[in-house]
Amino acid sequence: MSIDKSSKIYVAGHRGMVGSAIVRQLQAKGFKNLLMRTHAELDLTNQLAVADFFQVEKPAQVYLAAAKVGGIHANNTYPAEFIYQNLMMEANVIHQAFEVGVKKLLFLGSSCIYPKMAQQPMAENALLTGKLEATNEPYAIAKIAGIKLCESYNRQYGQSHGIDYRSVMPTNLYGPGDNYHPENSHVIPGLIRRFHEAKEQNSPEVMIWGTGTPMREFLYVDDMAAASVFVMELDKLTYDQHTDPMQSHINVGFGSDISIKELAEVIGKVIGYQGKIIFDTKKPDGAPRKLMNSNRLTKMGWKPRVDLVDGLKLAYQDFLKQTNSI
Ligand SMILES: NC(=O)c1ccc[n+]([C@@H]2O[C@H](COP(=O)([O-])OP(=O)(O)OC[C@H]3O[C@@H](n4cnc5c(N)ncnc54)[C@H](OP(=O)(O)O)[C@@H]3O)[C@@H](O)[C@H]2O)c1
Repeated sequence: MSIDKSSKIYVAGHRGMVGSAIVRQLQAKGFKNLLMRTHAELDLTNQLAVADFFQVEKPAQVYLAAAKVGGIHANNTYPAEFIYQNLMMEANVIHQAFEVGVKKLLFLGSSCIYPKMAQQPMAENALLTGKLEATNEPYAIAKIAGIKLCESYNRQYGQSHGIDYRSVMPTNLYGPGDNYHPENSHVIPGLIRRFHEAKEQNSPEVMIWGTGTPMREFLYVDDMAAASVFVMELDKLTYDQHTDPMQSHINVGFGSDISIKELAEVIGKVIGYQGKIIFDTKKPDGAPRKLMNSNRLTKMGWKPRVDLVDGLKLAYQDFLKQTNSI
C-alpha cells in the first residue's frame, strides 16, 4: 500500500551505496520528507542515541540500509566488529521503531545468509539448512538475526500493533556509490578500475584471478532500490500469500548469471580496452556458482530494468566521476 508522499521516511545508511540509491528512488517517486543521519550524527550501535532519535522524529517508515560491510579480508580480520555492530544496529533500529509505533520497516540483508553448499539457484527456504561460509559467518549470523527480529516482532505484535516489518536479500550489487578501492573492492568495481588503468597505461594485458569459469549474478543498485520500495509498498495480502511468518525474507536478484570471463570481456568492451585478458589459474576461484532464486519477487510482479551492459556503462561513468577522470 503506498503512503502519503509527505510522510516522514527514515533511510538509515543514506550515504551508502544501497541507501543512497533508495533515497534517489524515493525522491523520484515524489517522497519529500526523507529523514537522514550520517554515522557521525547518529551512531546506530548506541541504544540511547537511537531511542532519543526515534522518540523525537517518530518516522512513518524505516529503510534499514545501514550496516558494517566489508570484503573477505575485513570480515576475517574484524569478526567481532562485524557481528557486534550489525546486531546492535538491527536490534536498536527495529526495537526503537517498534517503540514509537513505526508500522512499516524494510531490513536489508545479503545473499551470504545462505549455507555455503546451498542448492543453486538459492531459494529463500535454503535459510538455516546448513553451514555458512566460514569467512563471513559472523556477518551472516547478524543478518539472519535481522530477519528473525523482523519476523518475531511481526508474530508478537503484528496483530495487536499493526506492524509489518519485511526483509530483502540482495545479490551482488554494482553501480553508483560503489567502492573502487584497488585491493578492497568487489569484482565489478575492481575490474572497472583495472581495465581503466590498463587502458590509460596502454598495458598489453590484464590478468584476472582464477580460471574465469565461476558464475556470478549482478544487479544494478538502482534496481535494488526499486525492488526495496516495491516490497515496502506491496499490499499485505499479496506479501502474506507469497511468504511465511517464519520465512518472510525476499531474494532480490537479476535472475541470471554470467561467468567471470564473460564479465571481464564485457567490462573491457564498455571501457574500450583493446588488450588481452589472461587468467591466473593458480589463484583460487571461490564457489563455482552463486545465483539467487528470485521467483518469489517476480511472482509478486517485480523485475529488474537495467541490463548488465547498460548498468556497466553507468557504473563506469560513476567510476570516472569518483576518480575525477572526467
Ligand atoms: N553492496 C553490495 O553489493 C551488497 C550486496 C548485498 C547486500 N548488501 C547489503 O546492503 C546493505 C547496505 O550495503 P552498502 O553496500 O550500501 O554499504 P555501504 O556503502 O558501506 O554503506 C553503509 C552505510 O551504513 C552506515 N553505517 C555503518 N555503520 C553505522 C553506524 N554504526 N551508525 C550509523 N550508520 C552506520 C554508513 O554511514 P556513513 O556513510 O555515514 O559512514 C553507510 O552509509 C548492507 O546490509 C549490505 O549487506 C549490499
